[in-house]
Amino acid sequence: MIKPLKKAVLPVAGLGTRFLPATKAMPKEMLPVVDKPLIQYAIDEARAAGIEEFCLVTGRGKDSLIDYFDIAYELQATLKERGKISALEALAPSSMEPGSFVAVRQQEPLGLGHAIWCARSFIGDDPFAILLPDDIVKSEKSCVAQLVEAYNRTGGNVVAVSEVPREQTNRYGILDVGADDGKLVEVKGLVEKPNPEDAPSNLSIIGRYVLTADVMKHLSKLERGAGNEVQLTDAMAKTIGDVPFHGLRYEGTRYDCGDKAGFLEAQIAFSIERPDLGDAVKEFLKKYTA
Ligand code: UTP
Repeated sequence: MIKPLKKAVLPVAGLGTRFLPATKAMPKEMLPVVDKPLIQYAIDEARAAGIEEFCLVTGRGKDSLIDYFDIAYELQATLKERGKISALEALAPSSMEPGSFVAVRQQEPLGLGHAIWCARSFIGDDPFAILLPDDIVKSEKSCVAQLVEAYNRTGGNVVAVSEVPREQTNRYGILDVGADDGKLVEVKGLVEKPNPEDAPSNLSIIGRYVLTADVMKHLSKLERGAGNEVQLTDAMAKTIGDVPFHGLRYEGTRYDCGDKAGFLEAQIAFSIERPDLGDAVKEFLKKYTA
């Protein structure tokens, strides 16, 4: 029986070194794309996939992420008193059903696999989604919802994948591909950050996963991999053969907001289609690219 997917883990304990000094006193995941923090894009995408329970894996100095999902009594009262209805409405997506949101601490950033292992009590025996909030996927249908649809057919693990230039395989988790119908690919193996000459394909995993709890027994060994970190990719690779494992070529565009160029591109992509900003953005793009 395929268990329904209701939980998501959002690891946010990384150091965000590529955005220093901005991230010295502020979590990377609170950086806004236009006027919404990265974390809110991830929560919106998960909710659109029917996910109801959330676990943030945070680290020191990241408490503003937890406060962000709390009620802001004074602010809300002041906005109400002043009749600022649209500002009040903008706050709505950051409110959480009581008890649907927990946070655990990853005391040391020992890698993505270690961050997920820190959420083991929340996960229990249930399937769960992982969303890395520094990836934003712009799509008609939520990327996680696409993964959940595939998961409801295949069961097991389903990860979102996209093609990357071969010379960049050493930046990503790369798939060894079996049967491929052009959309759903069977995963025969996984390698974290292989050199281009060793890479089994150029299909890379992006920051969206649906996994069964089977991965946890491998993570609990806390074995170090590439970069001396506990790699989620290595633990997922060990589940191949025990559970079905697929990659889904999702529909949508992914912006790597953990990278400065990707972050700036996302600002343009999301602002240019806004009725209140689009014309102004097109004008200044003309000015700066003339
Ligand atoms: P990144 O590799 O982007 O690392 O992590 P980072 O620390 O956030 O950023 P840079 O590279 O130093 O600029 C991918 C995701 O995994 C989380 C991060 O918070 C991010 O969402 N992560 C990474 C953890 O939660 N814990 C870790 O130990 C490592």
